[in-house]
Parts: sequence; structure tokens; C-alpha cells
Amino acid sequence: MSERFQVEIDSAALQREIEALAEISEQPAPVVTRVLFSEADLRARKFVKQLCSDAGLALREDAVGNLFARWPAKNPSLPPIATGSHIDAIPNAGRYDGVVGVLGGLEAIRALKRSGFEPTRAVDLIVFTAEEPTRFGIGCLGSRLLSGALAPDKAAGLRDRESVTLDQWRARAGCAPAALDSVRLARGCYRAFVELHIEQGPLLEREGIPIGIVEKIAAPATLRLELSGEGGHAGAVLMPARRDALLAGAEIALAVERAVTSTGSADTVGTTGVFRIEPGAVNSVPCRAHLEIDVRDTLQPMRDAVLRQIEQAVAEICRRRRVEWNLETLNADPPAQCDTELVNTVASVCEQLQLPARRMISRAYHDSLFMALLCPMTMIFIPCRGGVSHRPDEYSSPEQIRDGVRVLAGTLGTLAAR
Ligand code: GLV
Ligand code: MN
Ligand code: MN
Repeated sequence: MSERFQVEIDSAALQREIEALAEISEQPAPVVTRVLFSEADLRARKFVKQLCSDAGLALREDAVGNLFARWPAKNPSLPPIATGSHIDAIPNAGRYDGVVGVLGGLEAIRALKRSGFEPTRAVDLIVFTAEEPTRFGIGCLGSRLLSGALAPDKAAGLRDRESVTLDQWRARAGCAPAALDSVRLARGCYRAFVELHIEQGPLLEREGIPIGIVEKIAAPATLRLELSGEGGHAGAVLMPARRDALLAGAEIALAVERAVTSTGSADTVGTTGVFRIEPGAVNSVPCRAHLEIDVRDTLQPMRDAVLRQIEQAVAEICRRRRVEWNLETLNADPPAQCDTELVNTVASVCEQLQLPARRMISRAYHDSLFMALLCPMTMIFIPCRGGVSHRPDEYSSPEQIRDGVRVLAGTLGTLAAR
């Protein structure tokens, strides 16, 4: 890497932008909630688009709302490189998940521009639609469609809690009116994709290391379970007659924990993160329950064995409790391997910048999981306080963010020069 990528990051401007974006939320500060296509999400998109235009980037938006902000190349015939992340946020989230990769990615590009660097290849900043699964139950909606991991006709059938379809939401949100098949990109369309993100785990902070370089992303799966029993009066329906959907669900949530811990591997994790019941009245037996279950492992066979154990437990519990069930696998993705050459490039940028770095796996999923289907990919992690994420007290310091952006800028500069 040559000296010219030792760019100056405008940390003050970046912090102001992170703060301004955090203000755009469905709930008051410090909580950040920006569910896909909510009013807050739409305002946040507008805010980011304006920043990209101000930076002189050319904007394109696809039919599902993925946003591409391009710094054009000296040589437009070469495949561009790309960086980016997401700005949607789960309910009760913080201000850094995804945002550091979007606003930090933008600042990396601006810093390279200010340095006088002219890219041989174009550089795209991608703001992915719905990395978070909140509205449709499936994460990385935008990057799944870009990579072909999700078929457009399946995506078109997605419905949210109120049964509003993705197509209806796209129209409401003013996405490009084209069909969803137009979203897909060809393999090799990018030379490389590098995503900057907070670690969402404790290792970097614990070890006092400012930069993580991701070598592998764990394999996530999501199950959706509808349970249907029989409701009735809480006083009048005697216990032997009950077909309580909540109790079946409660046993299933415990069975998930059992299945996950039975692997004996600390890398296997499972969460019943959604559990809703109907009718939700204190004097009424729950007749219906809706559960969403997240299972992950670094090893796909281990994760899949847990999924099978959960399926068996669901069948056994529901039969015994005389509750009907419908279990759907929303996604069961393979892990993604990062590109060794790219990992080495990031490592040499860190060396040049004299920033200690460690190689690591990502236990959270990211759009990078799907970008890996299109081109070589890796991620740059920065520490976050206590490893806390998906909570309002999520925090990375301005210095930690600045270091991550310096590494990203150095990496993009190196890749865009070749
Ligand atoms: C991403 O937000 C994840 O749940 O890993
Ligand atoms: Mn997240
Ligand atoms: Mn994220």
C-alpha cells in the first residue's frame, strides 16, 4: 500500500452525521428503531441520499430499494469495488449497527476524494434494504435478492404481520417500479466487497485490539412456528381439557435451548426472539401462538442437526398437547468464507497504519454473507463497548470508528487503484 492512502478522516463530521441519523427513529432517543419502509426508515434513506449527493456520488436505486452511490472510475470497463451496510434498525436498537458501515463507508470515500486519489475502478457505496428481519421475518432481504439467494417470486409472496405484501410496501415506499427480477446482479459484477461493522461481540474490546478482520460468517437459520390450540374461559375450562397454545410454545422455547446446548459447542446459539399469543387476555386460555426462532452455528452440519432436533421436539410437544402446528423454515443459509487475498489486503493496510488487528469470525450475519455469492468479500470489525449490540446502549467511540474508517479507506484505495 502506498502512502497516499493514509487519508485524513473527518471524524467530527462523521460523528455529527451518526448523531443526526440516530435522531431519525420511531422511538425517542437513545432508542433507535427504524423498521423497513417505516416513516423513520424513509426519512433516514432521504438523509443518506442527500449526503451521498453532496459528496458528488451518482445515485441509483433498485426495485427493492437497495441504494447504490457511485464514485465513477477512470476506467469504467473494470468491475467496480463496493462497500456498504444497512440503516434499518430492529426495535429498541442502538445507533451504530449498520450505520458505521454506511456513514463510515461514505466518509472513507470522501476522505479518498479529498486526498486527490482518482480510482481506476469505480467505488460503490451500497445501502442494503432490510438487513434486519423485523418486517418480513427474513434478514438481508436486499442482498438476498441482489445475489439470487432469494427468488423474486418468493420475495413477492412475503407478507408482514398485517398481511401487507412486499410489493405493496415497495409501491408505498416509492421504490423503482420495475419487477423484482431486475434486482439481481451477475456474479463477478464487483471486483470485491468490504463491509465495515461494529463487532457486536466482546473480543476486540477484551483484547484491546482496534481492528478485526473477518474470515468467516456463521450460518444463520430462522424458523416460524404457528400453534393453534383451543381458547376458552380461564375459570371454566378444566385443566385436562386444555389445548393451550402458549404452554406448547413455552415447552418448545425450552426445547430450543436444550437442542442448542446439547451440541456442546459454544458456537451453537438459539433464540426464540418472537413469541406472541392470542387473544392475550388474562382470563382467556391462549388459543394461538406465533414463535420465531433463530439458530446459528459456524458449522452448518451442526446447525442443521439442531434444526432437526427442534422439528422433532415441536412434533412431540404438539401431539402430546393436542395443538396443531405449522413450522416453516424462513431461511437456512450456509456460512460464508471470506476471500484470503482480501483478508491479507486488509491486514497489510492495518500494518501500514500501525493498527493492531486480529482475524476472527462473525457470529452476526451481514449483507456480506450474500455479497460473497457475487464477489470476493471480507469485513472490517471495530470494538463496541461490552460487546453490546441490538440495544440502545450500543457504543463505539469516535476514535474506534475513525480507526475503522481509516482501514476501510486504505483498503478501498488499494483495491480501486488496481
Ligand atoms: C443481524 O442483525 C443479525 O441478527 O445477525
Ligand atoms: Mn443488526
Ligand atoms: Mn448490522
